[in-house]
Amino acid sequence: MTVKTVKHDVKDLSLAEKGKLRIEWADNQMPVLKIIRKRFEKEKPLKDVRISACLHVTTETANLMRTLKAGGADVVLCASNPLSTQDDVAASLVKDYDIGTFSINGEDNKTYYEHIDAALDHHPQITMDDGADVISRVHSERKEQAKEIIGGTEETTTGVIRLEAMAEQKVLLYPIVAVNDAKTKHLFDNKYGTGQSTIDGILRATNVLIAGKNFVVFGYGMCGRGVTARAQGMGANVTVVEVDPLKALQAVMDGFKVTTAVEAAKTGDIFITVTGDIHVLRKEHFELMKDGAIFANAGHFDVEIDKEALQGLTKSKRRIRDFVDEYALKNGNRLYLLGEGRLVNLAAAEGHPAIVMDMSFANQALAAEFMYKNADTLKKTVYPVPKDIDEKIARLKLESMGIAIEKLTEEQVKYLASWEMGT
Ligand code: ADE
Repeated sequence: MTVKTVKHDVKDLSLAEKGKLRIEWADNQMPVLKIIRKRFEKEKPLKDVRISACLHVTTETANLMRTLKAGGADVVLCASNPLSTQDDVAASLVKDYDIGTFSINGEDNKTYYEHIDAALDHHPQITMDDGADVISRVHSERKEQAKEIIGGTEETTTGVIRLEAMAEQKVLLYPIVAVNDAKTKHLFDNKYGTGQSTIDGILRATNVLIAGKNFVVFGYGMCGRGVTARAQGMGANVTVVEVDPLKALQAVMDGFKVTTAVEAAKTGDIFITVTGDIHVLRKEHFELMKDGAIFANAGHFDVEIDKEALQGLTKSKRRIRDFVDEYALKNGNRLYLLGEGRLVNLAAAEGHPAIVMDMSFANQALAAEFMYKNADTLKKTVYPVPKDIDEKIARLKLESMGIAIEKLTEEQVKYLASWEMGT
C-alpha cells in the first residue's frame, strides 16, 4: 500500500515522532487557541479556504496550523526565516497532520524563496505573514495572483510598517489585518515573549552570566522594553540606545541609562539590536568595542548588524560554539556574533513560549475568519484587528488562568456615559 503524503520539503520525516510530542506539549499552554479550534471544528468557518502561511515553523505555529485546518482551511506552511525552523515540527506537520510544509532549518536563500514560491503555488485566498515576505513576493514577482487573494494577515512590527507604507503609497494589492497591532499581541508577545526568549537565546548560545554585565539594548519599542526588563532582572547594568525622544525619555524614567551608540559601544559587554532598522551596529561601533564583546539581533531581519563591515575588519573567523561566531579583528580584539545576526531567540532558542503565542495566534486564527466573512467589504488597506476580537481573546486568556475580573455597576456605567455630572 502506498502512503499518500501532502506536498512537502522538510529535512527528515523520521523526526516526526519527537515533533508531535513537542507540539502537544506546547498545545497544553495554548488554551485560547484550543477553544477556538473546538469551535472551528464544529462551525468550519474556513471551509475549503486556501491559506498560505509564512511563519516561524515552531511547535506554536503547528498548533495554529491545526486550528486553521480544523476550521476547514486547506493550509500550507513555509518558513519566515531560514534559521528558525524546528525540523521535527516540520516533519510532524507533514506526517501526522497532513499539512503541506516547506522549510528546512539552515536553508540557503535560494531554497528559502523556492519554499515561499511553493506556498504561493497553493494559490492562497488568504496569506499569513511574519515579516511580509509572501506579500512582497506577490507584489514583486507574482502580481497576477493578487486578484485571487481576499486578504492577508501580518504578525510583526517590521511587516506592518512596510505594509502601511505600501497602503499609503496606494500600491497595496489586497487588504491586510495587522495582527501585530492587536493589544493582546504586541503588549504580551513583543514584550514578555521577546524579553524572555532573547535572554534564552543568549544563554543557550553562550552560557555567560548576565549579572554584572554592561548590557546594551538598541531600540525601546515593546520588544526592547521586554529585553531591558529581563536583563535588568538578571542583574545586568542596562543601557538603552534610542532615536525617538519619547521612547528615550521613557527609558530614562524606567531607570535605564540612555546614551549614544558610540558611547555605548565603548563599554558594553553584550549588545542586542531590536529596532527594525538597518546597520544599527556598524563599523564605527565594532572598532570601539572591547575585546570579548558579544552581540546579537532580536529584530525581524538580519540587517541590524552590518556583517559585511564586521567581516571587513576581520583577520580570521571561526565558529567557536553552536550559534557563536568569533571574529578576530585586525586590531587584535575578538568579537562574538550570535545566530549569524538572525533573530537570536528563534535561531539559538525556541522563540517565544507557547503561553504568549497562544494570544498572538488566536488573533491570527480569528483575523483569518474575519477576513473571510468580510471579504466583500474590505479595501486594499491595512486594518486593525477588530476591538471585540482583541477583548474576547483577553477575556478567554484570563478565564484560562482562573482569574475573575471586576464588573462595572449600573451606576458606574451611567456615570461614565454622562457629561452632566460634575463636582
Ligand atoms: N515568533 C516568536 N516566537 C515564536 C514562536 N515560538 N513561534 C512562532 N513565531 C514566533
